[in-house]
Amino acid sequence: MAQQILVLNGPNLNLLGTREPEIYGTDTLDDMVAELTGIAAERGAKLRHVQSNHEGTLIDALHDAREWANGVIFNPGAYTHTSIALRDAVISSELPVVETHLSNVHAREEFRHRSMLSGVCLGVVLGFGKHSYAAALDALLRHLD
Ligand code: DQA
Repeated sequence: MAQQILVLNGPNLNLLGTREPEIYGTDTLDDMVAELTGIAAERGAKLRHVQSNHEGTLIDALHDAREWANGVIFNPGAYTHTSIALRDAVISSELPVVETHLSNVHAREEFRHRSMLSGVCLGVVLGFGKHSYAAALDALLRHLD
């Protein structure tokens, strides 16, 4: 059966393409998800994408994923650095979650160096722009196989 993957994007990622393009690139979120969906299809996997600017909606999506997903690619945006609630939701999902970032957060401001989530995720991919998502997908599918 095809692996079912939730791609979950947090706050401000709806503005990709126009938001600080020197850091996050010029592709829109739709471009990125379309490309990732193609890559997933080549591997026989199916993606569902959710983006929200609201912490509670991200938590609900992780809870809901328990019912249907095999794994999660999660870019929590700035909540990465602050949210114990999202950390708890990742644990509660009982799913392998790959924390994913477009930018290399360790080469940026110090407040971005800490992640509340990394310790409860399967792994972390960061710094490769949109390719971070492709690398996260590859790693997650290899893990699931
Ligand atoms: C980000 C990094 C976060 O620090 C930032 O708040 C974001 C995007 C990234 O993908 O590089 O919104 O998660």
